[in-house]
Amino acid sequence: MKATAISPANIAFIKYWGRRNHDLFLPYTTTNSMNLSACNAHTTVELFEGDKIDSIIILGSDGKEIEIKRENGDKDELLFKYLDRVRELSKKKIYAKVISQLNFPLGAGIASSAAGMSAFVAAVLKAADLKEYFESKIELSKEVRISGSPSAARSVDDGYTELLAGDDHNDSYVRMIADENHWDLVDIIAVLNPEKKKISTNLGHKLASSSPFMDARIKYLEGKPEIVRDAILNKDFKTLAEYSEADSINMHAVMMTSNPAAYYLSAGSLDILKSIVAMREEGLDVFITFDAGPNAHIITPKKNSEIINKFLQSNQFVKYSIYNEVSKGTTYSDNHLF
Ligand code: PMV
Repeated sequence: MKATAISPANIAFIKYWGRRNHDLFLPYTTTNSMNLSACNAHTTVELFEGDKIDSIIILGSDGKEIEIKRENGDKDELLFKYLDRVRELSKKKIYAKVISQLNFPLGAGIASSAAGMSAFVAAVLKAADLKEYFESKIELSKEVRISGSPSAARSVDDGYTELLAGDDHNDSYVRMIADENHWDLVDIIAVLNPEKKKISTNLGHKLASSSPFMDARIKYLEGKPEIVRDAILNKDFKTLAEYSEADSINMHAVMMTSNPAAYYLSAGSLDILKSIVAMREEGLDVFITFDAGPNAHIITPKKNSEIINKFLQSNQFVKYSIYNEVSKGTTYSDNHLF
């Protein structure tokens, strides 16, 4: 059977970094985010009976084909491991043909894995007709999380969402905080370097516990997801800005002090950070947050978009920018890629 899913990337306010359980992909804390309208993965999966090897092709935003091999290791390996899980769940000898098209740069800290993994898992489960795993958003998000990307599980539901930390596999799942029409924030991504990063997030999560600051981060996070959740519900920009920006810096402190260190930020990232902080100090509702990459996510109410666009056009480090409104989560489509 063939199935196609389309799924957005998301930008986290309270971030997931490091795991309580690496086999079940359980995060230390509840995390939250908003889905991004202009960064998505469109993925078609067809399953065939037999024991031929799986074929996975990713089409980058430049249209180039990247063939994923089983021995690539790390994040790519997770795709094949998830197909093994589907073979087990369906108790069938099947192999997959997968084509996934991204409309934004891969592996550059723009949450390509969030879009990619959520679309991939949704399409595979539907192609395998495993209804109990894809018909409910809760079940689908658990599958996306255990496939290897807890951040991707947040893309399953609409608008502003959270992934509950939970205690085990059954209670770490997505929950919508508010839908995409609740609050018209935008995320203008300043792309500084669209190249693939050196330390993948999968490896970074394993390294997190080697940072002397990871325990401090876990303590620091107590109560923070709830504060941010309330800020979203109350459309309280000042609180969202304060806690979200601080969390991003806190996460990067852990990244930079792990062993080996993961330096994702660049000179340009810090240059833009300082300018955004200065704009906020002058009274503009705006803040900045970074995922595992140098690219700056600038969050502001939609009415301020022009001011931010003008600023980015004049900044020497910015190659281009991607304008995102808040979007729906994972959806199915009949628009198959093959
Ligand atoms: O789900 P992963 O393995 O791609 O990890 C993503 C981690 C961050 O993007 C850095 C933070 C987050 O919560 O999105």
